[in-house]
Amino acid sequence: MSSTNEIRRSFLDYFGKAGHTVTPSAPLVPYNDPTLMFVNAGMVPFKNVFTGLETAASPRAASAQKCVRAGGKHNDLDNVGYTARHHTFFEMLGNFSFGDYFKEQAIEHAWTLLTREWGLPKDRLTVTVFHTDDEAAGLWKRIAGLPDERIIRIASSDNFWSMGDTGPCGPCSEIFYDHGDHIFGGPPGSPDEDGDRFVEIWNLVFMQYEQQPGGKRIDLPKPSIDTGMGIERIAAVLQGVHDNYDSDTFKALIAASEQLTGVAAKGDSAASHRVIADHLRSTSFLMADGVLPSNEGRGYVLRRIMRRAMRHAHLLGASEPLMHRLVPALIAEMGSAYPELARGQALIEEVLEREETQFRRTLDKGLRLLDEATSGLGEGGELDGEVAFRLYDTYGFPYDLTEDALRNRGIGVDKAGFDAAMARQKAAARAAWKGSGEAASGEVWFDIAEREGATEFTGYTATSGEGRVVAIVKGGVEVASASAGDEVIILTNQTPFYGESGGQTGDAGTMASLAGLKATVTDTAKPLGRLHAHHVRIDAGSVAVGDSVQLDVDVARRDRIRANHSATHLVHAALRNRLGGHVTQKGSMVAEDRLRFDFSHPVALTPEDIAAIEAEVNAEIRANVTVSTRLMTPEDAVAAGALALFGEKYGDEVRVLAMGRVGKDGRSYSVELCGGTHVRATGDIGIFRIVSESAVASGVRRIEALTGEVARQWLVAREEALKAAAGVIRSTPEEVPSRLAALMDERKRLEKELAEAKKALALSGGNRGGGAASADETIAGVTFSGQVLEGLDPKELRPLLDAAKRRLGSGVAAVIAVNDGKASIAAAVTDDLTGRFSAVDLVRAGVEALGGKGGGGRPDMAQGGGPNGDKADEALAAVKAAMAA
Ligand code: ALA
Repeated sequence: MSSTNEIRRSFLDYFGKAGHTVTPSAPLVPYNDPTLMFVNAGMVPFKNVFTGLETAASPRAASAQKCVRAGGKHNDLDNVGYTARHHTFFEMLGNFSFGDYFKEQAIEHAWTLLTREWGLPKDRLTVTVFHTDDEAAGLWKRIAGLPDERIIRIASSDNFWSMGDTGPCGPCSEIFYDHGDHIFGGPPGSPDEDGDRFVEIWNLVFMQYEQQPGGKRIDLPKPSIDTGMGIERIAAVLQGVHDNYDSDTFKALIAASEQLTGVAAKGDSAASHRVIADHLRSTSFLMADGVLPSNEGRGYVLRRIMRRAMRHAHLLGASEPLMHRLVPALIAEMGSAYPELARGQALIEEVLEREETQFRRTLDKGLRLLDEATSGLGEGGELDGEVAFRLYDTYGFPYDLTEDALRNRGIGVDKAGFDAAMARQKAAARAAWKGSGEAASGEVWFDIAEREGATEFTGYTATSGEGRVVAIVKGGVEVASASAGDEVIILTNQTPFYGESGGQTGDAGTMASLAGLKATVTDTAKPLGRLHAHHVRIDAGSVAVGDSVQLDVDVARRDRIRANHSATHLVHAALRNRLGGHVTQKGSMVAEDRLRFDFSHPVALTPEDIAAIEAEVNAEIRANVTVSTRLMTPEDAVAAGALALFGEKYGDEVRVLAMGRVGKDGRSYSVELCGGTHVRATGDIGIFRIVSESAVASGVRRIEALTGEVARQWLVAREEALKAAAGVIRSTPEEVPSRLAALMDERKRLEKELAEAKKALALSGGNRGGGAASADETIAGVTFSGQVLEGLDPKELRPLLDAAKRRLGSGVAAVIAVNDGKASIAAAVTDDLTGRFSAVDLVRAGVEALGGKGGGGRPDMAQGGGPNGDKADEALAAVKAAMAA
């Protein structure tokens, strides 16, 4: 038995040996064709080669091309799960000749590979040709020796293949495999052809024409060959099974899904497992190629597929999100052939889990509503379109999910009613918005957005470009023109100016025109999330709606903003690495001169945390890894004509930023969804410095940081300050800490010595220090000793007063100790005088003069204090006054 991986290799080896250039699969999003949503055939990447627009690197090619048939012209979504052969994602094996060989060699190669290399029995094979293609019929007879009845002529479009409404096309010849008479069905062209017995395995297209817009069909420069063989079908054939879902890849995926759900793929559950296996492939491959779920365009097709799978996971009773847990099984099967799967694994799992968690919140309720609304309906009944719309609008049920959910019961959905409800909602949204009483200037954005669509933002790759003025707003209303001196808001059809959003500040710069407009763009806002509104001061000339203007972003400013924005992504990752997965972003502000990042974390960061985070971010910066954005650049989008596809979607386009080094798990250091503008490579950030860490709310911390030149200047300023400090203390910057420590020690020692000297002096009754000394004096006939001592430890007051009392024999003493501007006061009265004076009253008088309150003790000894050490003399005077009173 050949595994699917072996079959792929064998096909490519065969054609490689036969002179074909083996070409890797192109991404699922067609970059060369605005008319297609997804690549849906192997020839799509070669379309321009067939038509002669591009020259092929080599005249023969072979590939295994990823294809998605969902949402576009070829849409197999509805059938997946219920048939043996429908897939939303499949691989098409193909060989191509660009004006090189034609029918004969194409048939020879196909026949040789199938019957000789792969050993398929000739009698199991039947072919069809376009009814007028005698040449092909003759070749099959000669080369394969097939009898006439197994070379069937088909007149219908089945045997004329075209890529789409336009593009290369030609008659084709299909090869069918007969799975045997135990399966119902007849050969192609027979009444029972729709049965499953005869299965088309390979389509050889004899490309001869190009269908042009308007119905004209012209000859290709040279007759060419395009073939396509679904690998899932040939794998089933070569593995001796009839059903694609019994081939190795699907068996493994279904086994993984059985294991995780604990439900066997039998009976009704079989379809659910098939849906899950198929949709796992399409959703994972689409995300690996940069498509992300959204509510429009490709993103919505992806979301529809995801949700359809998620309902089936729910049907199987999965109580937790399931899809993301199946990704490893997919990578085990297909990761070696498609390394983008492993590269995108983290993102794919993250998005799948998030989408499923989100959808499960409404899934149950939606299904209950669906049950109620259909309880009275039997087979052939139809669900009210309004209900289908409510399921869509409130419960997130894509239309086809609702159809799928009712399919088993034979109930349909009123599509016209659904569409009408959708149209009504759009009209109502605007009416409600109008009535909401928002500022008058708000309504103007609505008018402009509806009329002009979203502004196309070209600023991910460009910082200058032309735009056509589509609206000028002055004082909240649209005006036709503006001139020098006016301050207006100008909207253009496209702009490189980033409008403030997602925490990133809006761009500033200039606007000018050949007609003489000179204007300063002071800021750019983003009303309705879709319009880029330039706040403009017109310096000279004038501007009118319809004018072409040159738009130039202030690049140096933008570069600083970019660096700060990219640094927030790196610091987010570093915080999570250091502190844990509970860290999530709670807000951010990315300005020109700094960044701020708020995140959930219960306690303050330690200095070690901050140092480690800073070091980690700077290591990523030095690694200078190119920042990858997984979505088309605007240039590519325009080149691919994606305007038509995305249209108004630009406003909420989602981009995935991968930044920093790729770890052992294959995941980039930081992967985030972000619509902001970023550096080209992490090295552009230059340097990262955290300048503060603080609390903003309970459980939310804030980091402020600088990057690049601003950080450098900050560091230089610090260095200069350090140098200056070193100069003052006659040291080198390196020695500042030890020198300062030594100086501080010395100062402490000197202070102590000084205090002791003062105390000794005071005890000796000599000069009472502090310049506020007084000799003993007589107040109210009593000896009074008053002293003010700078730097005296307040603890020394009592011993000092005890000594004073002893020295005086009979008298009153008061001492004030002044430390750091504050004063402590104590007073003592010898026992013989306590009848006349209370130390408490005396101290209180002093305390009041010191600006303090209270003071207490006993009549013979009391203490207090006050903030105004400079009032020590007044305090002594107050004590004396109290004695005299
Ligand atoms: N382009 C051809 C097909 O898709 C081979 O069937």
